[in-house]
Amino acid sequence: MLLTSIALAALLVGCEAKIGARKLSYQKIYKFTPKTQVTDHAAIDLDQQEIETLLTDQYLWSAAQAVYENGAHSKSYAEVTLSTPLTTTMAADVEISGVALDGTTVNGKIMEEAASGSSVIKVQYATSDKQEKYVGCQVGGSSEPVTTGCFADTGSLSMSGTTLDYTAVANKNARTIRGFSTNDARHRVESNPDQAYYKDMQMFVDYYGSSDYADKWIMAALANGSTGYSGLGETNFSTLDDTGRKEAVVKGTVFLAIFMYVIRELEDAIDDCVVQCDADTCNDDPVHALDEAVAFYTGSLHLTEGSDGNLLFSLAEKRCENFLTCENGEAAVNNRLFVLFNRMQNLLQQGKCEEAATVVSDITNIMYVPMIQGAFRYAYKSGEQDDQTPKSEAEGATFAAAVLPKVHKCNAADAQLIYDNMKVGNTEPVDWPAVKSAFERNYRCMGITCADVGGQSDGELYFEGAGPCSSSFMTYVGLALGLAAASLIAFF
Ligand SMILES: *[C@@H]1O[C@H](CO)[C@@H](O)[C@H](O)[C@H]1NC(C)=O
Ligand SMILES: *[C@@H]1O[C@H](CO)[C@@H](O)[C@H](O)[C@H]1NC(C)=O
Repeated sequence: MLLTSIALAALLVGCEAKIGARKLSYQKIYKFTPKTQVTDHAAIDLDQQEIETLLTDQYLWSAAQAVYENGAHSKSYAEVTLSTPLTTTMAADVEISGVALDGTTVNGKIMEEAASGSSVIKVQYATSDKQEKYVGCQVGGSSEPVTTGCFADTGSLSMSGTTLDYTAVANKNARTIRGFSTNDARHRVESNPDQAYYKDMQMFVDYYGSSDYADKWIMAALANGSTGYSGLGETNFSTLDDTGRKEAVVKGTVFLAIFMYVIRELEDAIDDCVVQCDADTCNDDPVHALDEAVAFYTGSLHLTEGSDGNLLFSLAEKRCENFLTCENGEAAVNNRLFVLFNRMQNLLQQGKCEEAATVVSDITNIMYVPMIQGAFRYAYKSGEQDDQTPKSEAEGATFAAAVLPKVHKCNAADAQLIYDNMKVGNTEPVDWPAVKSAFERNYRCMGITCADVGGQSDGELYFEGAGPCSSSFMTYVGLALGLAAASLIAFF
């Protein structure tokens, strides 16, 4: 019996060593079954969790910044210093194993090619299909690292008949929330010769002036400074207290940085589809990119009983209760998104890239709904519920920052009105009716409806003046404005 389970365990370990290997069925992410392994990607929410913990009560800014910058839980690798330099080039993806601090065998693969003569190699730890034990080495910038599954401090690594002795190990992470924002190249269309930005990122670059707007926001909030945007949306956090700066950081990481990276993965899936799929063959890249998008949208913590996690999925769940947009106990936004994720998976598997691209547009439009609900929640608190605390001010400003570039693309004056009311440092109460209608005038242009956003409520009844707008009325106003503009243009 014991032997059998040891043999089974060995077999499982053997399987898990194949990073990203295709298998029959992976653990579900809410209502989506990934086709590739993305447990390591989903664990990015553990970085978010640690950042939130470090900034709760104690406000450990530099410890939180270390996790933001250096990661801890996703794409763990060891930088191994060899006793003697390599005598031949070592190719990427070669499988290699060593002994962990707890004495067990740890598998990994060479992360990037190492030239002959180099004495440092990077080994990415193998990850498991099982979310609960996806990797045993979580260090990076963590204040509470998990080291049991890391290589012992000194020892030897073995690979197909060869042994490499080493003298030191540094455990790092190649996926960080900061990297989502600062890696400009990732946000550009691969298949496009001009390397244009993906559509949503382009709106944000047009508004803020650069693709790392999320990083500028988060770093300034961590440092009690100013974003220094070359475009619009400048934000100076120095008038906030710790509670406010914390919200600007922990909401900025999810609603600015991770938000745009989810969209990037969806666009990347289309890119991969266009570049790599022809009529009858299609490799795993497009479906893997979609799997990553769903993992970054949802995270791993939703698997924990009673938890919706801390990423975009969880925001949609929370807001649907305030805005009466839940259906059967779940956020309508999430239900619709997961239908679309599944449809997109189907289309990608059939190599139907153009149809999949229209699904991406539908998904991204819906993703802004909880951002608007978030902005509304805090605009209403400030304007109608006499809440001008720095905490609410920062929350409102961060949600607004996540959607202002899209409003701006539709109507620059409306975006300016929202920014002036909701920016950090505005000490006046928000003009709630003005902010509400500035958003609502643009729903049609933004590809959403009044019913999608819903209205603010006590959980059962809408507050006076805060209920959902009427789509037919807004369409009428939009049409009237459009006609007026058209006749003006015709006139001149
Ligand atoms: C931010 O505001 C503070 C306090 O009002 C001020 O001292 C500082 O110069 C401002 N920073 C920038 C970059 O404007
Ligand atoms: C943040 O900066 C402002 C102005 O630069 C300063 O008055 C304030 O004390 C700073 N707050 C913290 C927590 O350092």
